[in-house]
Amino acid sequence: MSDRLRLGVNIDHVATLRNARGGAVPDPVRAAKMAEAAGADGITAHLREDRRHIRDADIDHLMEHLTTPLNFEMAATKEMQAIALRHRPHAVCIVPERREERTTEGGLEVAGDDNRLAHFIAPLAEVGCRVSLFVAADEAQIRASHRIGAAVVELHTGAYCDFHADGRFEERDLELARLTEMAALAHDIGLEVHAGHGLSYETVNPIAALPSVVELNIGHFLMGESIFVGLDRAIKEMRRLMDEVRNIPIAETG
Ligand code: PXP
Repeated sequence: MSDRLRLGVNIDHVATLRNARGGAVPDPVRAAKMAEAAGADGITAHLREDRRHIRDADIDHLMEHLTTPLNFEMAATKEMQAIALRHRPHAVCIVPERREERTTEGGLEVAGDDNRLAHFIAPLAEVGCRVSLFVAADEAQIRASHRIGAAVVELHTGAYCDFHADGRFEERDLELARLTEMAALAHDIGLEVHAGHGLSYETVNPIAALPSVVELNIGHFLMGESIFVGLDRAIKEMRRLMDEVRNIPIAETG
């Protein structure tokens, strides 16, 4: 396995910190530029309906200043669709959104909402955005994503990371087995496979080792770590861990 895994750095929580005081600092665009310099292959930003972190002006500035692709995360609403169609970012990742949640808690319900989502993503794909659906490691959701014309699925690694953090290692390993199987299935039916949510230095290795996964999107852990070591070092260490796994031949990973 030698293909380099892409790292998308999610900068939402730079905006969370900025908004805590209502001013202009820290600037998410500055963080994005630093992330690019540190080796990020793309920048991810989630414009939530309640604008709790990233704001509309941040998306304008990111589109203007980034030299790597923007992965624009959004809910499947008319308002967000219009914003994405105006900006035409490289990628659009559709996520479920509930106002009361602290973060994106579950995967998108694609199978039960396929007709609406098919019509929702078609215009985005038509203007050239790579449409990704953020789903759990669930066969029905993955097959439905393919059926409605998504180019990419991003597998939700949040449950795997939570089980790890809680010391529930049997459940973690079961979830990892599901992610492994579903990443292979998604790839086999023709989808590009990404993964993300909750990943840290401790949890990234087995996910980075999945041969079908070509991109990881990581934010909260990196921003937290950057308080202690700086953004540049935090991102470079994540990159190193991701590259290390990819350079080990599959036969030797056990
Ligand atoms: N991928 C998706 C689709 C997400 O919604 C998020 C969180 O915004 C992430 C990746 C990054 O998760 P984290 O901030 O926990 O690394």
